[in-house]
Amino acid sequence: MANTILVGAQWGDEGKGKIIDVLTAKADMVVRTQGGNNAGHTVFIGRRKYVLHLIPSGILRVRKRCVIGNGVVVDPVSLVGEIAELKRLGVRVKNLFVSESAHLVLPYHRELDEQREILKGTNKIGTTKRGIGPAYGDKAARTGLRMIDLINADRFEALLRCKIQENNEILKALGAKPLSFARVHAAYRVAGDQLKPFVTNTVVLLHEAMRRGQSILFEGAQGTFLDIDHGTYPFVTSSNTTAGGACTGSGVAPHRMDCVVGVMKAYTTRVGEGPLPTESAEIADMLHAMGREFGATTGRPRRCGWFDAVASRHAAIINGIDDLSVTNLDGLDNVPTIKVCISYRAGLARLDYIPADIELLAKCEPVYAEFPGWMTSTTRCKKWSQLPAKARTYLRALAELTAARLTLVSVGPARAQTIFL
Ligand code: IMP
Ligand code: MG
Repeated sequence: MANTILVGAQWGDEGKGKIIDVLTAKADMVVRTQGGNNAGHTVFIGRRKYVLHLIPSGILRVRKRCVIGNGVVVDPVSLVGEIAELKRLGVRVKNLFVSESAHLVLPYHRELDEQREILKGTNKIGTTKRGIGPAYGDKAARTGLRMIDLINADRFEALLRCKIQENNEILKALGAKPLSFARVHAAYRVAGDQLKPFVTNTVVLLHEAMRRGQSILFEGAQGTFLDIDHGTYPFVTSSNTTAGGACTGSGVAPHRMDCVVGVMKAYTTRVGEGPLPTESAEIADMLHAMGREFGATTGRPRRCGWFDAVASRHAAIINGIDDLSVTNLDGLDNVPTIKVCISYRAGLARLDYIPADIELLAKCEPVYAEFPGWMTSTTRCKKWSQLPAKARTYLRALAELTAARLTLVSVGPARAQTIFL
């Protein structure tokens, strides 16, 4: 396999975890390049369910080397917990490499995340409260701590002391409880000692692998419209979730990338606040009643809506999507008439891109095309030709509207429920 960037083409939770797992079979290395433990990638293997937050899903396949790149923000205590949980499930975690330049998430980031959400009141973002925004904030302000600091005991102690002191003043002013330096230091020192063997220069590691002709899968977290630059700001996460983030977050140059895979659900979901033009109570109630669409990280019910081709076209442009993977097709198995948003109406204007003005986006009314549902289970289909004709028509329309090549369809969580075109 060539070097491949995989991105979420909607608002996150597109089912990337499963597609990454399937594509990993053909890659030598898998790299996370942005985000932190706000992500939740669910992979089913046999009857076992694995939920990964920081570690690339590639860890579930033996001999695949997995990298947490420089662009990721790492909560070391959470990472240690994730490693322990994988070991408990019988997964070997010796092929994990963590960038020494990756920034740390510290307890004051989580506290600030929470406090800022409270201050925002009804305008809250609906974050995962994992401290992601404040951690990237420190990175951009050049006041962050990195993995390389964590594994250097003396340096870490001195830097952490200053940071706790500074952030305690802010927390007190916000009416929150200050943190105990001793307690945070102790927990992070333990985590640092446990993570030390994994910490390395991942840029060199990746380039040496490429020189040997190995192929790399760059696994995106979150989705295009949660991108800090291209998403529905301010209702976004704090990293570049789009294809460009794979380069800056790993140290691999753009011209070394061979293919961009966009993953999208056959409908739309979103967790957290912010506009979702095609949101529909009808489809949300149906999916939740099926036990689907509850968040992997926070357990929150996801908001649901019809497929939005305005959004998918926009995502195709920003990411340069070559190949399209459509997931959760089976979620629509019982829908008599399926709607697809083909443009937006805002007053008298028609829009066929996502406007940057969040207030304008909130006013956009979807213009729908309708497709007859196939009203039969697709979960046992193994080939394109086995899919109901109406499902094939629907999928062809999604690819055409998105202007990308449909290469994969997923009809259930299992590895075997994957149709390659
Ligand atoms: P944060 O990344 O925790 O700051 O949250 C910012 C926004 O991104 C919120 O709307 C979250 O619900 C959303 N978000 C963050 N990570 C994910 C994810 O992995 N899947 C889906 N939504 C996410
Ligand atoms: Mg998720």
